[in-house]
Amino acid sequence: MPGDPAMSFAKDIRPMFTETDIDHMEPFGLDLSSRDEVADRADEIYRMVKEKTMPPPASGLPLWTDEMCERFAAWQRQGCPP
Ligand code: HEM
Repeated sequence: MPGDPAMSFAKDIRPMFTETDIDHMEPFGLDLSSRDEVADRADEIYRMVKEKTMPPPASGLPLWTDEMCERFAAWQRQGCPP
């Protein structure tokens, strides 16, 4: 949206991934601490957090709130700035 304030991966997106998320996704070939990897697979990641399939509910880790999902979508609309 044109009204969204300027966002960055470092400031707005990276802090939403926990160290547990990053450690547990590394063996599956996805580095959630990497702007480029997250940007490449942003649609898939968005769908998973929005549908609450990731982090896996059985892990007991907190699922993303609507506000977190919307923040991720706004970052995508801005072209995934680093
Ligand atoms: C491209 C997107 C993603 C794919 C394909 C993916 C795939 C997977 C797979 C196959 C597993 C292991 C099986 C399972 O526990 O269900 C897993 C585990 C996990 N994923 Fe993801 N994931 C993605 C994104 C994410 C995101 C965005 C997060 C965090 C916000 C996340 C957090 C986790 C965690 C914490 C585990 C370990 C759960 C446990 O050990 O109990 N994943 N993921």
